[in-house]
Amino acid sequence: MDAEKPDLKAGISLDQLPDGGLVLGTVDGEEVIVVRQRNEFFAVGAHCTHYHGPLAEGLVVDDTVRCPWHHACFSLRTGEALRAPALDPLPRWLVERVNDVVFVRGKSAATEKQTTPRVMGAAGMPTAVVIVGGGAAGLAAADMLRREGYAGSLMLISADESPPCDRPNLSKDYLAGTAQEDWVALRPPEYYAERNIELVLNARVTSIDVQKKRVVLGDGRSYQFDAMLIATGADPVRLPVPGATDAQIYYLRTFADSRAIIARAMSATRVVVAGASFIGLEVAASLRARGIEVHVVAPDRTPLERVMGSQVGTFVRELHEQHGVVFHLGQTISRVDGRKVSLSDASVLDADFLVLGVGVRPSTTLAEQAGLALDRGVVVDEYLQTSAPGVFAAGDIARWPDPHSGERIRVEHWVVAERQGQVAARNILGRRERFDAVPFFWSQHYDVSINYVGHAENWDAVEIDGSLQAKDCAVTYKRGKRALAVATIFRDAQSLKAEVAMERNGK
Ligand SMILES: Cc1cc2nc3c(=O)[nH]c(=O)nc-3n(C[C@H](O)[C@H](O)[C@H](O)COP(=O)(O)OP(=O)(O)OC[C@H]3O[C@@H](n4cnc5c(N)ncnc54)[C@H](O)[C@@H]3O)c2cc1C
Ligand code: FES
Repeated sequence: MDAEKPDLKAGISLDQLPDGGLVLGTVDGEEVIVVRQRNEFFAVGAHCTHYHGPLAEGLVVDDTVRCPWHHACFSLRTGEALRAPALDPLPRWLVERVNDVVFVRGKSAATEKQTTPRVMGAAGMPTAVVIVGGGAAGLAAADMLRREGYAGSLMLISADESPPCDRPNLSKDYLAGTAQEDWVALRPPEYYAERNIELVLNARVTSIDVQKKRVVLGDGRSYQFDAMLIATGADPVRLPVPGATDAQIYYLRTFADSRAIIARAMSATRVVVAGASFIGLEVAASLRARGIEVHVVAPDRTPLERVMGSQVGTFVRELHEQHGVVFHLGQTISRVDGRKVSLSDASVLDADFLVLGVGVRPSTTLAEQAGLALDRGVVVDEYLQTSAPGVFAAGDIARWPDPHSGERIRVEHWVVAERQGQVAARNILGRRERFDAVPFFWSQHYDVSINYVGHAENWDAVEIDGSLQAKDCAVTYKRGKRALAVATIFRDAQSLKAEVAMERNGK
């Protein structure tokens, strides 16, 4: 038995479990949390099924537990992963109270949701669903359709050459060389056949006829649908760099892009990253982990200032400088001649290659061709339905009515894309569920993860609770008295509580 963690099979006293309390212990060598909600007791696995976040440090809200790392939410009753980024359920155990002692008994057999297959062809129920886009939103939607018992035809069409992958990893551990190749796929290869999901890779949809309910691929294949989800994500902004050859310039969006950068990095000693965006800076950190000299060139005065303000931006710049990144701020690249990279202030850098991380644009060409209403993205209603009935949109392309800010917003966050995919899937099945999640994203720089809940495009005050220098703080972005967003560093519980407060305010 672990010296600090009680053996839950031997029982724990009720005094240790007040209402809302949580105890971390072990059962047959596995770490388990026991939670009390009034007079009910639950026992589930102690590690999140996303990246194994410690749920004992998470937040219990009613009969759910939220993960401290990226805010996945699990049902304590069933173990089900109710909200992404976790997709798989937690194992759970039976709990028995005998007088004033709570015992954790055997592991429950079934943790997967048991849903009766939907009757296909019933009023309003689709028989053929097509998802365009094999990314965060597309995979989460396909997964949820099957979890909800949808038994009809399900096609997931992706222009990528690889199956849906953990895109955030492509600029972090995978690029740094600390994640294995097989960690990157969101699902193992056999998953698609087991769930009867027809995964069509390397396939670009070139047109959608929303009246005839048909999609056409670039190679002429076409498919009918009753309902569809368009989740085409975003494309990196491509900058013309005078003098540079295509072989010198790298972008990062796909698994193939990340692999290409790694292959090139193997023989490189110096790299120029253009753009001090989240992706540009994460690339800088990962290349530093490979021992490469990195210069970041960006027109901004301070990295990330537009999204996180100058204090957090300065902290992030200093953090990268401590790890050896050299910034050339207020500069742009004017020309490349062989290895020589000339900047707007006439200084010259030496580089084996360049990575351009200067932002993305939502991939709306297809939606535009289909005649869907656009407004700097694809316009959707609170149910994520586009202007065409039966056609839903989710992820980086979707601009939705956010009940928290009262504005129509579009964001580029992994967790939002997955959650929108999940809600769209339920609405394809006729649920009429509003998408009202508080936006959340995280970004990783060396050992520092920044978690951000809410949405602040502009604010009139920034309040810092704690200290950025000490890497222990919560930064609140306010307009008037209202907290629009909260960024935290090593304050995971505070981030979860801020999320819950925003959910309650926005209802
Ligand atoms: C390197 C990197 C790191 C990131 N890190 C983070 C992070 O740490 N935290 C965070 O919150 N967010 C992060 N993001 C952003 C996050 O990955 C995106 O917000 C998310 O992937 C959006 O999901 P999506 O489903 O809308 O689009 P995507 O995941 O991009 O998927 C779009 C899919 O559509 C396909 N497609 C496009 N057009 C067509 C077509 N015409 N026909 C067929 N298929 C098509 C593409 O091939 C792709 O499969 C990162 C992004 C990148 C690139
Ligand atoms: S580790 Fe739990 S949400 Fe990522």
